[in-house]
Amino acid sequence: MTIPLSRPPVDDEVKAAVIAAVESGQYILGPECKAFEQEFAAYNGAKHAVLTTNATAALWMVIKAFGAKAGDEVLVPSHTAFPTVEAICFAGVTPVFVDIDETYTVDVKDAAAKVTPRTVGFIPVHLYGHPANLPAVQELCAKHKLWLLEDCAQAHGSTWQGKKVGSFGRAGAFSFYPSKNLTVMGDGGLLVTDDDEVAARCRRLRDHGRQSKDIHVEIGFNLRFNDIQAAVGRVFLRRLDAMNDHRRKLAARYTAGLAGLPLVLPAETRGARHVYHLYVVRTPQRDQLAAFLKDKGVATGIHYPVACHRQPAVEHLKPPPLEHTDRIVKEILTLPISAGHTEAEIDEVVAGVKAFFRK
Ligand SMILES: Cc1ncc(COP(=O)(O)O)c(C=O)c1O
Repeated sequence: MTIPLSRPPVDDEVKAAVIAAVESGQYILGPECKAFEQEFAAYNGAKHAVLTTNATAALWMVIKAFGAKAGDEVLVPSHTAFPTVEAICFAGVTPVFVDIDETYTVDVKDAAAKVTPRTVGFIPVHLYGHPANLPAVQELCAKHKLWLLEDCAQAHGSTWQGKKVGSFGRAGAFSFYPSKNLTVMGDGGLLVTDDDEVAARCRRLRDHGRQSKDIHVEIGFNLRFNDIQAAVGRVFLRRLDAMNDHRRKLAARYTAGLAGLPLVLPAETRGARHVYHLYVVRTPQRDQLAAFLKDKGVATGIHYPVACHRQPAVEHLKPPPLEHTDRIVKEILTLPISAGHTEAEIDEVVAGVKAFFRK
């Protein structure tokens, strides 16, 4: 493809950081990891940051640390990457699937209707880089005494009224997968929390349930992070706001260029700062448009074609249909965007989309 969906901005500074970490001789949870944790916590306004292998692991550790047990229910939007739901199931808890609103994030009214005496928590997802309706989520959690875990895998640096996502709940989880707004050139993840006990428990869970070198007080796993990738993460963290500004500039270019076409374009709720992890449009001619752009060398994606409540892995839960989610999954199309794309590339995609509708 001439224009990929995403392109991480690798340069000499990133490569030099990798070499320095390789030469340091310290590879696992060493000084680069500690510095990255401190710097990310400071960036996000959190007391603690705990690095781990990926966001799925971060979500799982937090749910365990919150003390969730079999029979407990957790509210989660179905329109998310399956790992959000997988972490809930892997922690032995039951996901309760919630519909979305016009921002593609959780519909809090639907969530409220699905609270039962077994509901213990709520995991809103800041999908595509747009914050969920956090005031409404917080209100619902307070009303029913639910814990709040924010899935920030797609929303590093996104804010609601100036406050960073991940700082509204009792914890927040981030992914550093290569296409994400902040990457470590491979898999990686992190959780933030102000809660000393949750942070300590997660540090223990990521390292075989160790309390000290030879004493294992619970069954954890090996979910530790490494210094080479932490060194990369530190470089990109310093650039995160600038990279997000670039994504926003490209998104504005799309929105201006595509205006007037028969497409639903992404919107930014007042008070929200969208960081455009993905630029998602909607049209009933989705598949034809994707094929047309592919012929022109433009990659597109669908995030996600099969909603979580329709996945075979959770069929046994017999989830009911979700009106909005079930409708939009047939129409959504992700156009290329990342910190590594140029304005000229966006213009080329816009020209391709316009040519499709002129046909
Ligand atoms: C919303 C969301 N949650 C969780 C995850 C899981 O992240 P990871 O791949 O780092 O485990 C992803 C990544 O695909 C995601 O997009």
